[in-house]
Amino acid sequence: MTDLTFKTMGQQFGRRSWAEPWKIKMVEPIEVIDREARERALEEGGYNTFLLRSADVYIDLLTDSGTSAMSDRQWAGIMMGDEAYAGSRNFYHLEEAVQTYYGYRYVVPTHQGRGAEHLISQTVIKSGQYVPGNMYFTTTRLHQELAGGVFVDVIIDEAHDPASLYLFKGNVDLDKLEALIEQVGADNVAYVSLAGTVNMAGGQPVSMANVRALRKVCDKHGIRIYLDATRMVENAYFIQQREEGYADKSIAEILLEFCGYTDGAWMSAKKDNLVNIGGWLAVNDRDLFDALRNMVVVYEGLHTYGGMAGRDMEALAIGIVEGVQDDHVHSRVGQVLYLGELLTDWGIPIVHPVGGHGIFLDAKGFYPHIPQDQFPAQTLAAELYLDSGVRGMERGVVSAGRDPKTGDHRYPALELTRLAIPRRVYTQAHMDVVAESIKSVYDGREQTRGLKMVYEPQYLRFFQARFERV
Ligand SMILES: Cc1ncc(COP(=O)(O)O)c(C=O)c1O
Repeated sequence: MTDLTFKTMGQQFGRRSWAEPWKIKMVEPIEVIDREARERALEEGGYNTFLLRSADVYIDLLTDSGTSAMSDRQWAGIMMGDEAYAGSRNFYHLEEAVQTYYGYRYVVPTHQGRGAEHLISQTVIKSGQYVPGNMYFTTTRLHQELAGGVFVDVIIDEAHDPASLYLFKGNVDLDKLEALIEQVGADNVAYVSLAGTVNMAGGQPVSMANVRALRKVCDKHGIRIYLDATRMVENAYFIQQREEGYADKSIAEILLEFCGYTDGAWMSAKKDNLVNIGGWLAVNDRDLFDALRNMVVVYEGLHTYGGMAGRDMEALAIGIVEGVQDDHVHSRVGQVLYLGELLTDWGIPIVHPVGGHGIFLDAKGFYPHIPQDQFPAQTLAAELYLDSGVRGMERGVVSAGRDPKTGDHRYPALELTRLAIPRRVYTQAHMDVVAESIKSVYDGREQTRGLKMVYEPQYLRFFQARFERV
């Protein structure tokens, strides 16, 4: 064969290419508005990408939450909604899917992840108790704090370093955990709040060895482990790819083993479970289940729908099964990796290793001249939108919020702009457009100025805060 000038992606890496395990049956047209219109939209939206209208966005990487494309089977499931107030048959499908794939005994449906976080936090945390976890997540920590808990970060140090190539940057540092238990006493630890993968660290996984060791430590002290299972399927994929002894196991097998080391989980089904809305909470303890099931009727809805329509639960039950298929997860994470590899090759600062659900641009690396209180990651999200209509979001000082005791900004080591890739939605060509836009913003980085916050809401400020250029 003659030497090829143009090469496919696979050829560039010396292997055969792979493709998505689906074909497209329905499309949603998208448009790009011109730069002047984008400038107007951004100003009207207070330089906050959460305040843009989606019609003004070209490629939407704001979040991978609720933005997946459902399959023809899921849409068929929508038509099979049993909208009975009580005992909908779709609930029993959902319950069975959670029991089969995640392995927990008792299931409580909720409208989305934070509904589940609210229930477990209010039920399990006693005021003043500590909640150690592998890095905070915005809504998770807020619910823990609203229940009177004090979150303590016990993730390994590597997680805070965007350049560290450690393969399991989501791991719990067991020494930090033991030190906390010794300092405050096991009775003052509500539970360990374990997330797989870790969103705020860049979608980084926890190893099976780590959760196994964590279980031992917690058993020694009589402490429970509750899992944020939102992206646990992607975590299982990384274990399969990276951890010795798991290469021949299916993602479903790995998921089940991992969950088996924990006492329960809450879920934003809008991610791994491939639905546009939904959530659940699942535990093994009967008494706790009774308490949660009692709480759900106060805040979400009856214990057999928890804020979801019957049709939503059917799509979710089907999404759970589709979401754990090896070829699906391979292509999903593979697309994220594709974008990450382009940017890495071009010398653009991102979090390494590339995580499961998106690319996290290192805004401190882009803008060393912009101090953190002028919101470099917020600035970068705004610049990217201006350049091409690509929408990402801030995951830095704005997302971290204020310390409830001192009232000061919390300054996380990671100041990141996240480009989360929806599942089964965009093509490789979209990723190329995104990569080129990031490069163009990176090339213009020295001229970029930061932002000042001119409106700050009390809770989860990143959603609604407004900014102006300094
Ligand atoms: C790790 C993690 N936990 C919990 C949540 C909260 O879920 P929801 O947005 O469904 O309320 C999210 C959502 O972004 C998440 O990424």
